[in-house]
Amino acid sequence: IKFMSKANNIHDDNILIVDFGSQYTQLIARRIRSLGVYCEVCSHRRVSQALNRLAPKGIILSGGPESVHMDNPPQIDSQLISLGVPILGICYGMQALAQYFDGVVTASEEREFGSADIKILGSNCLFKDIKNLDSMIVWMSHGDKVTTLPSGFECLASTANAPIAAMVSESRKYYGLQFHPEVTHTPEGDLILKNFALDICGARALWVSKNIAEELIDEIKDEVKDASVVLALSGGVDSSVVAALLHKAIGSQLHCVFVDTGLLREGDVDTVMVDIDKRLGVNICYVDAKERFLSALNGVVDPEQKRKIIGGLFIDIFEEAAKAIPNAIYLAQGTIYSDVIESAANDDSQAHVIKSHHNVGGLPERMNLKLIEPVRELFKDEVRKLGIELGLPEYLVHRHPFPGPGLAVRVLAEVKPEYVITLRQADAIFIEELRAAKLYDTVSQAFCVFLPIQSVAVKGDARAYEYVISLRAVKTIDFMTAEWAPLPHEFLAKVSNRILNEVSGISRLTYDISSKPPATIEWE
Ligand code: XMP
Repeated sequence: IKFMSKANNIHDDNILIVDFGSQYTQLIARRIRSLGVYCEVCSHRRVSQALNRLAPKGIILSGGPESVHMDNPPQIDSQLISLGVPILGICYGMQALAQYFDGVVTASEEREFGSADIKILGSNCLFKDIKNLDSMIVWMSHGDKVTTLPSGFECLASTANAPIAAMVSESRKYYGLQFHPEVTHTPEGDLILKNFALDICGARALWVSKNIAEELIDEIKDEVKDASVVLALSGGVDSSVVAALLHKAIGSQLHCVFVDTGLLREGDVDTVMVDIDKRLGVNICYVDAKERFLSALNGVVDPEQKRKIIGGLFIDIFEEAAKAIPNAIYLAQGTIYSDVIESAANDDSQAHVIKSHHNVGGLPERMNLKLIEPVRELFKDEVRKLGIELGLPEYLVHRHPFPGPGLAVRVLAEVKPEYVITLRQADAIFIEELRAAKLYDTVSQAFCVFLPIQSVAVKGDARAYEYVISLRAVKTIDFMTAEWAPLPHEFLAKVSNRILNEVSGISRLTYDISSKPPATIEWE
């Protein structure tokens, strides 16, 4: 079910972001959303479809890896020009805009990459409230640049390397920026995007958690009426927020199924059964499937096979539980906007599947249920804010992500019960210490991995031959790339001391210092 706009609602004042393939496109969208303005990303090839649904107050053209000088370069769809609304072209978007209006874009020998000092020429609404107009730091990443302005445009800013670093056509409200306002390396970038979205496009900040919650609750009520909705609740952020939202909308017509796979983290069962069930009063059916998962995984070592077994069994168990729910017409799922953008991008490209991800895919058809995805328009940070708005506890809403196959893909061997117990204990200590040191929220994801390698140790006066645990902590924005987190040595020393003393069977601890790529975040 795609929630459609009603009159005068949170979607009314929106911005369309046309993607030319920049690695920063999602960032542009997140910046605009954080201003309280709804926006959507669409491929430059699919502008018509987007305009069938939206009446944007403004357009942002993203950057991109291409050059306007290549054969068949990505072009600005003329429908965007016909709209007569303000346009902001960023990097490639500026070059495409310049070329569309017969300016000249020149390929440059040297690629400019990194910080640049820019001088703003004259006053313009786009640069309103910027403190140092003579010298502003911006982030550049380009080869080509505009060297002759299109007619009707004037130069707004210059850098040493790019004499036309920004341009404007005042009459049409078309702007071009050679630099990237969406990245944090452009400290005044947020202000520039705010000036564009709120002042130049005149969009109102309607997209805020309180309004979003009210609107979604109304829409769910209208859609579901007196039917029942089933939801696979995992204790992760997305499914918990969907549970809280549906519960507010339809109360006891929501039936959550919580499958305890035995592969969960310490505290996961309490999160669901105490903080969501008891605290919010959500209707949850607890299914103890620990034995079934462990016996299905018996002897299995291959990571992809583990994922397939877990995904298949999860669906079987969920289906068994859901069949007992009367009048179930809908299946709810915590799909979020990044998933939507990524699957649209994958449809456009030939991306390789590195790991098969586990979700309830295929279930709606199999069970003849309608799919309802109430947070599919929201980015993760928006889902989190919505969760707080709906009364979920802070710790839950800010939890690190946890993979569907759970601890099974963090035991780099056959998933034996004793390995899972050891891993869970070590992981709980690492997380507890991260929270105590106030480091938990400084990393995007942190966990332990169990390595089935034995190494020699001395415990008391005796020789031991025991297993290894690796700590993993990463910082990332989108989980597509990630950097290992440089946690303080004193902190690592404390974790090491505790794990080596408190977790039996472990006598060696390592810290994973691999970034993604090439290493993925999970080890399997
Ligand atoms: P990787 O290991 O691919 O992980 O770099 C990127 C992010 O995805 C999570 N992840 C999964 N999530 N099912 C999930 O729901 C899976 O099979 C799965 N594998 C990885 C991972 O924890 C990280 O946040």
